[in-house]
Amino acid sequence: MSNIGNYEERYKTFTWEQAERELNYRPGGVLNIGWYCSDRICDSGKGDKPALIWEGMGGIEKRFTYHDIRRASNTIGAFLRGLGIQPEDRVCLFMDKIPELYLGVLGILKIGAIGQPLYSAFGDESLFVRLDNAQTKAVITQKKHAPKVRKILDKLPHLQHLIIVDHDGKPLKDREIAFSLEKSEPVEKLEIHPTLAESPSLLHYTSGTTGLPKGVKHVHYSLLSQYMTARWALDVREDDIFWCTADPGWVTGTSYGVIGPWVLGVTQCVLDAGFSAEAWYRFIEKNRITNWYSAPTAIRSLMKAGEEIIKKFDLSSLRALSSVGEPLNPEAVIWSERVFGKAFLDTYFQTETGSIMITNYQGMKIKPGSMGKPFPGTTAVVLDQKTFEPHKESGKIGLIALKPGWPAMMRTYWNNEETYQKKFKNGWYITGDRASIDKEGYFWFVGRDDDIINTGGHLVSPFVVESALIEHPAVAESAVVSKPDPINMEVVKAFVTLKAGFTPSADLDLEIMNFIRKKLSPLAMPQEIEFTDALPKTRSGKIMRRILKAKEWGEEIGDTSTLEND
Ligand code: PRX
Repeated sequence: MSNIGNYEERYKTFTWEQAERELNYRPGGVLNIGWYCSDRICDSGKGDKPALIWEGMGGIEKRFTYHDIRRASNTIGAFLRGLGIQPEDRVCLFMDKIPELYLGVLGILKIGAIGQPLYSAFGDESLFVRLDNAQTKAVITQKKHAPKVRKILDKLPHLQHLIIVDHDGKPLKDREIAFSLEKSEPVEKLEIHPTLAESPSLLHYTSGTTGLPKGVKHVHYSLLSQYMTARWALDVREDDIFWCTADPGWVTGTSYGVIGPWVLGVTQCVLDAGFSAEAWYRFIEKNRITNWYSAPTAIRSLMKAGEEIIKKFDLSSLRALSSVGEPLNPEAVIWSERVFGKAFLDTYFQTETGSIMITNYQGMKIKPGSMGKPFPGTTAVVLDQKTFEPHKESGKIGLIALKPGWPAMMRTYWNNEETYQKKFKNGWYITGDRASIDKEGYFWFVGRDDDIINTGGHLVSPFVVESALIEHPAVAESAVVSKPDPINMEVVKAFVTLKAGFTPSADLDLEIMNFIRKKLSPLAMPQEIEFTDALPKTRSGKIMRRILKAKEWGEEIGDTSTLEND
């Protein structure tokens, strides 16, 4: 039996007061995520349970119990406080997926400061824009990433401290300071800052098509959403060994790579060593991972690596598999069911929503290609794009919109309330994505507003075309965009990467076209297939269709700071 039990029943009866009661939170009282994710678990007698099993390059491993993460986060919190970091000051975490990153999030939250996690792969320009916007007071980093911060330090008058967690003893410059978790005196007791539900917690930067990246402000009350969704959407259980593959530079990595598992007192694993199918399967086997949360880009890479390799590993520990970040192609769901004996369940959310909003649930009927149904305690609809009223008939494509009011909803964009306000119409939060809802209430993702193709007045979903393409045995990944056309204004163009052993040719092009012709309406058929070695992606693995599209249309590419290979 899954944690959620009967979805329909839960959807009818659940209110957020239930989560408040379960977490012993009294409205108006103190609520601190850092405390909930460590001290509270220890207070309940589970201090000796493993909280984090971390593996870095070369197979080195570090293990932390709940007592360890409580103490380590206290130690980091006390150090920051000692430097003069005040509640609501922004502290940036600019590190690889090392333990200090995870423990640092809790430490920052415990003293009431705001955590600002950023991908360690960001270059100095991308970093500057985000630190400048947030007027960040301290950056915690590793010595290998410190030069990027040093380069922009002079342009950042608010940045008072550059904290290096693995300093090698060389002389430090002005504003620089070394901190070693291992060498510091552990702090047993830290006065937790009495944050309230609406006190800010994390600032996550998200880039749109145009303009500068926006800082999405979250608050401590988000804990309730992350707690419930980890339990009911991801089906995280007390005895799980949980693995969220996302980097905390991305909201998935904090909501479900820090807060979700730890508020539930679960053991989680982190692998801080690049991607390879072999390394990932070995990690699952070694740690007996039971609950795995990943993304379509990774799943497609695993599919590309083939099925033979899977036979080398014992992956029988896996119980619950979920995916987020992009639409999950039906082929990936069917594949995972075949090779792991478990389907990846698709979950949908955004940096702005802070927690999973529309999702499939263990035990509920799965329709491959569908995002599932709204999470209990939330209302999701598709709106007519002109009237902003919910579509009355099923099957009609509209704007995915959510009724504001769930705990993890962003509270504003940092220093940009105007853009935040523009996200609301007619009392709805507009996500910027489109979908349809079928007769049984399942949501079917169509595309982001910017990605949908309008060919001669007919809307074509890039996701549907891409899903047809990757069913072909030669196709590894695809991205479908519009290109200009004198008659239809826009027509469909497909970019395709091939699996190992296949080479581009006119024959293959024709074969793929004939293959998808049987699956797609004539209007959705690509006019052209372009074979390519790689697709442009964000660091979280999303295909950046707008870059391919801009090239087709001869337009400016726009902000590329989250591009994987910049
Ligand atoms: O377009 C949707 C896509 O990713 C966007 C949110 O991106 P980001 O803020 O980086 O994500 C944070 C956590 C996932 C959405 O507006 N997206 C995300 N999940 C799905 C998805 N598209 C389709 N299906 C999904 N499951």
